[in-house]
Amino acid sequence: MALWGGRFSGQTQAEVTRYSESISFDKRLYHCDIAGSRAHVKMLARQGIIPQASADAIRAELLEIEKKIDNNDFAFDIAMEDIHMHIESALIAKLGPEGARVHSGRSRNDQVALDIRLYLREEADKIISGIRAFQKALVKVGAAYPELIMPGFTHLQHAQVVLFAHHLLAYVEMLDRDAERIADCRKRINVMPLGSGAIAGSTLPLDREEVCRELGFARVTRNSMDSVADRDFAIEMASALAIFAMHVSRLSEDLILWSSQEFDFIELDDAFCTGSSLMPQKKNPDVCELTRGKSARVCGDLTALLTLCKGLPMTYNRDLQEDKVALFDAIDTVEQILAVYPPMIETMKPKADKMAQAASDPALMATDLAEKLVELGVPFRDAHRKVGSFVKYCKEHNQKLNEPTLAEMRETIPEATEEFPALFDPRASVAKRDLTGGTGFKQVAKQLDFWQKELEMTK
Ligand code: ARG
Repeated sequence: MALWGGRFSGQTQAEVTRYSESISFDKRLYHCDIAGSRAHVKMLARQGIIPQASADAIRAELLEIEKKIDNNDFAFDIAMEDIHMHIESALIAKLGPEGARVHSGRSRNDQVALDIRLYLREEADKIISGIRAFQKALVKVGAAYPELIMPGFTHLQHAQVVLFAHHLLAYVEMLDRDAERIADCRKRINVMPLGSGAIAGSTLPLDREEVCRELGFARVTRNSMDSVADRDFAIEMASALAIFAMHVSRLSEDLILWSSQEFDFIELDDAFCTGSSLMPQKKNPDVCELTRGKSARVCGDLTALLTLCKGLPMTYNRDLQEDKVALFDAIDTVEQILAVYPPMIETMKPKADKMAQAASDPALMATDLAEKLVELGVPFRDAHRKVGSFVKYCKEHNQKLNEPTLAEMRETIPEATEEFPALFDPRASVAKRDLTGGTGFKQVAKQLDFWQKELEMTK
């Protein structure tokens, strides 16, 4: 009979047992569930709610159960529904009536809320350090090529020259906000719900503060109904993970483009690519493509969680059991990404000659001409139009922007001076962008330095 079977006379239909189990996915919470139960019974004994000897026996047996699960030596059975029931049943099987005291003053509703919070707190820390390692890999590659110039793109059209390191550092910034978002969300995860019971708290004199201290939470939740009803902390985590995955998907798209024959800017290490079963010449950036694909899953997980919660009446509803499916999928996917990306980034080889060649297109420096005119006193809109006419002139004459003579340039840009031809030098163009946040050599060196120091302090 199920642990809740007292008021039932009929059996659960076999299909329903299969339909309603969560052990197949919530067993990963065992470690958190055991930590929560150990803290709970310690408090129960101290409050005189259960005998100290029962608490001691339960706490010891919980460690035994944990060891068994660690060693794959524990029988899971869908008839016992979820991880909470499995552990409680194992306690009762071993300790009899002593074990049956563990659930005093507790409901699975607050228990599962506690477990998810403990679990997410751990995962948040793991993921943050994974993101730091990812950032370090990007900074390392950037620092290895501090002067490498490439075309920067807007609308996937050649825009202006930028440093390769600047491009990588853009992702370092994005990942930094991802780590910050997770750290911020962790604050709201780190609140202790146990003692909320099923909905209304407990008639027993529980000491919630003690459990809170024991489990290292920042504080206890203030409202028992809120504690068992909401999963916003999980939604927030999924949201932070979805944004992270979206960022990595964009990086992946860059790497896919750069690996193509058309761009040919980088070579990814063989270890991160696969071949074609048919075309012998192929080397495909599959890891990047898979990440673009997997990021869609994480976005889907976020949507699933939002949709799961949006129509629920207060407080706990069984729908909430499904939160773990989406949440775990988001976490697992992100952890997979984090395992693969740092080594893939560190081993990628930029093709300096190809990038330099693409960056030498003088059209990339058209803005520099317009800005030079501004320095000479020409209103920007005028300057833009004149350089635009010059570009048109070059198109019509089938010339690159640096091919017409100065006299020819002056047909459309009368103010052009002797200095103008030199503006087509990509190095000079980069060097001149010496504002904070710009792609200038000095600025990017400063940023690389900043990130090296900043990331050194992270674990
Ligand atoms: N397996 C459930 C879940 O994951 C545990 C809580 C069940 N509570 C209940 N009253 N049926 O949400």
